[in-house]
Amino acid sequence: MLSFFSRKKQQPFPFHRLVTDMHSHLIPGIDDGSPGIETSELLLKGLLDLGYSNFITTPHVMEDLYPNNPGTINEAFNLWKSRSEFPALSNYVRPAAEYLLDGNVDSLLERKEKLQTLKDNMVLVEISFASPPLHLKELLFQLQMNGYQPVFAHPERYAFYHQHTKEYAEIKAAGCLFQSNLLSFSGYYGSGVKQAAEWLVQKKMIDLLGTDLHHEKHLYHLRELHATAALSSLLDEQGLMNSNLW
Ligand SMILES: [Fe+2]
Repeated sequence: MLSFFSRKKQQPFPFHRLVTDMHSHLIPGIDDGSPGIETSELLLKGLLDLGYSNFITTPHVMEDLYPNNPGTINEAFNLWKSRSEFPALSNYVRPAAEYLLDGNVDSLLERKEKLQTLKDNMVLVEISFASPPLHLKELLFQLQMNGYQPVFAHPERYAFYHQHTKEYAEIKAAGCLFQSNLLSFSGYYGSGVKQAAEWLVQKKMIDLLGTDLHHEKHLYHLRELHATAALSSLLDEQGLMNSNLW
């Protein structure tokens, strides 16, 4: 028989308490996120309606697929800003980036090129979903030697770590902050990802939450998101850093 608690209706997730979303793909036309200004406007309105106040939006930087750099990112952002119906867009939307840890990051660091940060020295990084880079720890070390604080995007989404949770502790110990995707907690990416996200909460390893919003389907599922026990624990007990980013 279902207990009273398991039947208790969960509240909608209180997005306004995070204040700042620090992972999304809102800038038009430069990655697999918004394809154009019209969609960017619609996605931004959707996120504002959820209750967020500020946005650090993070287009992919991938050597092969999306060879972005501060120039391409700022140019696309400025074009959006100049045509946006939202007044003073840059008062609450800031461009940053999500760097795939590939050979490109190696060369950027070697050439001492400036990376786009979330705030101060914080850099959002991701790895391939197929397999981790062999020199992951070395890359994380190099980032820190160059003055950056790596923020590891959606650790729960890497299936190759699900049976090797020791790796999470090692990446964390190598100096990373962890950012989980909100939709990981709803089961949107599958039950393995959901379990991994909940495990990371249990181990108190998550520092930030992001939408990683790419398209309208994500928005639809975010609207349906509930304050699950794991998410409530993060919000109420674990001192997330989202609101300090703006
Ligand atoms: Fe992303």
